Amino acid sequence: MRIFITGATGFAGFHLTDALLAQGHQVFGLVHADTSHQPLPDHPLFRPIPGNLLDLAELEAAVAGVQPEVIYHLAGQASPGRSWDNPALTLAINAGGTANLLEAARSAGRPRVVVVTSAEIYGAVRPEELPLTEESEPRPHHPYGVSKWAASQLVRLYWQRYQLPAVEARPFNHIGPRQAPGFVVPDFAGQLAAIKLGRRPPTMSVGNLSAERDFTDVRDVACAYQALAERGRPGETYIICSGRAVSIQHILDALIELSGLDVTITRDPERMRPSETPRLLGSYTKIERDTGWRPEISLRQSLADALADWVQRMSGL
Ligand code: GDD
Repeated sequence: MRIFITGATGFAGFHLTDALLAQGHQVFGLVHADTSHQPLPDHPLFRPIPGNLLDLAELEAAVAGVQPEVIYHLAGQASPGRSWDNPALTLAINAGGTANLLEAARSAGRPRVVVVTSAEIYGAVRPEELPLTEESEPRPHHPYGVSKWAASQLVRLYWQRYQLPAVEARPFNHIGPRQAPGFVVPDFAGQLAAIKLGRRPPTMSVGNLSAERDFTDVRDVACAYQALAERGRPGETYIICSGRAVSIQHILDALIELSGLDVTITRDPERMRPSETPRLLGSYTKIERDTGWRPEISLRQSLADALADWVQRMSGL
């Protein structure tokens, strides 16, 4: 199958591309020279396509040149915290970029499209609203959440107005090997790996440990995106999650235990957020019902693999 993907060098994009190439698909990855820092897949079935989500004409030419059967749209500004540094750019990339992508798909034979948004759309949810479903009310409380809510609405509109068979994938937090620093598991695992290798004293800096999140392994998330491309209903939203909320304290304790280290913890005010989502928990009932997908990899396994990945990456430096 001919597949077009944006964000192939990102965290989930890396794992999805890896899986697609292993299955023998031909994968064309949109590459933006200024923001793609990760190495591109070195595989005979992978072709980089230069382009920019913010340039409609360039994007349309890129998609038309490939004539894909499926498009996965994963590229974007992925950090809720950093979205406060430049709100307009976050909106331009995540909302405007998605509009351009859907336009490009529409003028290239209307392939199936999977648009990735985020559970951060929901904002500060009340305890009685949990677990969140696709019907729960979105109340985004940072520019990142607003940008993803706009992308979500565009998927529905493009199906209603143009019959573009697009599906929204709304993942909760995902973790596992190769996640970039700036998110909680790599921030903790990176510090533990540095301590293990004797490169920093046995002290860890942490942020808010009382927040709770619903974590899914990134490789399970990549499987979910494929399930949605194949069996998701057009115009629909699908939550991707584990159905279980754990505290950041639990994540910290589990990583420390897996590392076998004895460490001191210090609270770093710099790691606290101006607006924090206290608890996120979702239900994967809908995606399971429509596609058969369910999470397979345990939290402990994801954390062990993330930590091993950091130790390996740092050992090679
Ligand atoms: N990054 C980070 N670093 N977070 C920390 C730290 C730390 O040292 N210490 C505590 N935390 C807390 C944060 O305050 C937050 O409550 C929680 O750990 C998770 O933070 P992140 O891993 O940065 O993820 P996020 O929940 O803000 O956003 C992620 O998940 C969303 C989906 O639910 C991102 O992947 C988003 O792109 C995604 O939309």
